[in-house]
Amino acid sequence: MSKFLKALCLGTALAALPGLAIAGDAAKGEKVFKKCAACHAVGDGARNKVGPQLNEVFGRTAGTAEDYKYSKAMIQAGADGLVWNESTIAAYLAKPKDMIKGTKMAFAGLKKQEDLDNVIAYLASFSSASPAAQDQSSAEPAAAEQTQTADASAAAAPVSATRDGGVFGLGREATEDEIAAWDIDIRPDGTGLPVGSGTVADGEPIYSENCAVCHGDFGEGVGRWPVLAGGHDTLREDRPEKTIGSYWPYLSTVYDYVRRAMPYGNARSLSDDDVYALTAYLLYLNDVVTDEDFELSNENFTDIHLPNEENFIADNRADEEHYAQKGEPCMSDCKPNAVEITMRARILDVTPGSVDDDEAAGVGGVD
Ligand code: HEC
Ligand code: HEC
Repeated sequence: MSKFLKALCLGTALAALPGLAIAGDAAKGEKVFKKCAACHAVGDGARNKVGPQLNEVFGRTAGTAEDYKYSKAMIQAGADGLVWNESTIAAYLAKPKDMIKGTKMAFAGLKKQEDLDNVIAYLASFSSASPAAQDQSSAEPAAAEQTQTADASAAAAPVSATRDGGVFGLGREATEDEIAAWDIDIRPDGTGLPVGSGTVADGEPIYSENCAVCHGDFGEGVGRWPVLAGGHDTLREDRPEKTIGSYWPYLSTVYDYVRRAMPYGNARSLSDDDVYALTAYLLYLNDVVTDEDFELSNENFTDIHLPNEENFIADNRADEEHYAQKGEPCMSDCKPNAVEITMRARILDVTPGSVDDDEAAGVGGVD
């Protein structure tokens, strides 16, 4: 369940408690609204400014004020059924970007419950619908204009409409078999592995027959087909040889990739057991296992670790200072000084190695 839908349910529960309906003081709320007034108008002749006008906001489906250009996130929230009432507005104003990821309301949020209650009471004085109205059915009769009512029900419709044709009335829901056929990814923790097994010895003939033409008898690669083994201790070199054994972090990628994409040109022709046997054989070619009788199965799969695993770290970008601050990105005039072109790729030689080297010439030959 998405965050705002949770907030919606929570709101229903809160409103059921007596005494919580309009806790605030509209006169005090008018002062709090000064924080909003740079972007929002209310009252006679209120127009859209940076944000939409907020007359009749209670009972309004999110993202539906006429002639206002909302963020995609807000329109989606409305399409998913978000209607403004006391509790949904309170949740939004407390932390706008937490409730609706991607909203373009650049407002940090109101910290004090008192301020929230008061500004809601103030907004309520510009709405004919009760702020405590919780659902479409009670909100609709109160919605002032007919267009608004139509918008609200149209926006709420897609939730059920996705079952048969979605917003655009095209296609149908995928069947379980269709989803199962696509849903074949395997994760490092073994999630998604099919039941099965195969030994190094089983894998060798399957490999010779289906893979060696391109990848070589020992995974050394024929011509320019990819190398599947070797390359140990080359990662610090100028031209590292990245193979399953020297570079790949997880064995699950080998199983997933071979089952999904190999043999090249005849993908998905191998049985699950064949893929276990081939994966075991690739471990053998990479000296991760040394016994030809070694049997790989869904049961011992996650016991196997590839040599380079520990050099990979989890992606923690979301927690990094720069991203965690979630500041608005600079979109114009971001460079303080004039921008000038200092060099053109035609002059700057971006091709590594000597030009005499046939392989290298042309690579990156930007012109
Ligand atoms: C810096 C400008 C700015 C400030 C300050 C601001 N808002 Fe907003 N507000 C917006 C924008 C822009 C939107 C449209 C958001 C979107 O489309 O994602 C919005 C949307 C809303 C909505 C949803 C309306 C709808 O029709 O869906 C409500 C309710 C709201 N603001 C209330 C408030 C209140 C109350 C305050 C003051 C406590 C406030 N806002 C402060 C810019 C602002
Ligand atoms: C007709 C040639 C061909 C055959 C046969 C073939 N492959 Fe490949 N293989 C490729 C090509 C081309 C790629 C690279 C594809 C790409 O990068 O999109 C590749 C990539 C791979 C990779 C990933 C290598 C890397 O480091 O990125 C593995 C593992 C692999 N193949 C295993 C197999 C196995 C196992 C078989 C036999 C079941 C097999 N291949 C049969 C051509 C072939």
